[in-house]
Amino acid sequence: MTKQVHFGGRPVWVEVSLRAITKNLDTVRRHVGPRLEILAVVKSNAYGLGAVPVTKALERAGANRFGVTCSNEGLELRQAGVRKPILVLTGFWPGEEKRFIDKRLTPTVTRVDDVRLLERAARAARVKSKLRFHLKINTGMNRLGILPSELAAFANALADCRHLQLEGTLTHFASAEDFSARQTDDQEHLFRECLERMHALGISPGIVHMANSGAICARPSTWADMIRPGAILYGYYQSFDPPRKGQEVRDQLPLEPSLSMRARIITLRDLPPGQPVGYGARFTTERPSRIAVINAGYADGIMRQRTNRGCALVRGRRVPLVGAISMDLTTLDVTDVPGVALGDIVTIYGKDGNAEIKVSDVAREIGTVTSDLLCALGRRVPRYYL
Ligand SMILES: Cc1ncc(COP(=O)(O)O)c(C=O)c1O
Repeated sequence: MTKQVHFGGRPVWVEVSLRAITKNLDTVRRHVGPRLEILAVVKSNAYGLGAVPVTKALERAGANRFGVTCSNEGLELRQAGVRKPILVLTGFWPGEEKRFIDKRLTPTVTRVDDVRLLERAARAARVKSKLRFHLKINTGMNRLGILPSELAAFANALADCRHLQLEGTLTHFASAEDFSARQTDDQEHLFRECLERMHALGISPGIVHMANSGAICARPSTWADMIRPGAILYGYYQSFDPPRKGQEVRDQLPLEPSLSMRARIITLRDLPPGQPVGYGARFTTERPSRIAVINAGYADGIMRQRTNRGCALVRGRRVPLVGAISMDLTTLDVTDVPGVALGDIVTIYGKDGNAEIKVSDVAREIGTVTSDLLCALGRRVPRYYL
């Protein structure tokens, strides 16, 4: 028996709770105290949840600054009316400097030569007040940032720049999600040495910041003047492995997940034992089975690694995902759900009755980080803001 039903729009959607996000901001603020600035990381479309609505809600709720990846992301926020400072965390591409000045975006300097480019652009634009920038120091991540050994060269370059002001100095941790990683201690130690060296060279580092979600949760010594939460604002830990023996987990915060992803059953199919399901026949029924089809696949954010792995919720029960996740469709075994019907809501992430599937649970299940799954949410999936 096969039943099929049609809806007005493709029945898959994401619900984003802005209330949960602002509540998480409050939780973080209470955790670190009122003295510190909070730079909310809203890069990559606010981790897939929608840059403009999320940033505006956070701005109203008192976040002090925002962090994005590139000037395009900053521009989108300015065009939407976001007024607070926006730090472009991944630096700038030569030629983009004027855009930063025009749109009041704060660049991050990641190479000594960057200051010369910024100075030239600020001079040409005849800026009235100095162009503010942040300096990123590489303390062990080994991706972006000037080396500690380049600080003297940076100081020399800056001495020639009358149109620039160093507003802040940052570093980024490689292993902060592991609350007891030695690497974070080493990076923090080296960063503090760099700050001392800057003072000795006659440069004030300005606002000092290093802590991302993991360090905010577990390492108060890293909070400095400003923190940079991303994942925890959205209600999730990045952590993908269960805590190891001896690993410290006591400083976890009471976060509220902000995302639900749901779809409706568009087809129900009763199959006898021995029937293959989906691409590559990756699943074969072993009993008389009722298979439900939802209109959401890996192009919507259900990762293909979940093939024959993991669950969704139907009528408050966990049901297994069976067969290959395809681009647009996913199949579930709903044999054990009494009364299951066409049009029933399938919860991919979120709560249904007493059951819940968190994005971070799925991240752990398939061995990735929460933000990987959030950023995978497809563009074609409508987001509704609650
Ligand atoms: C420089 C920087 N700071 C802070 C964050 C926020 O990280 P998290 O989402 O772990 O809080 C990121 C995210 O990757 C980042 O690149």
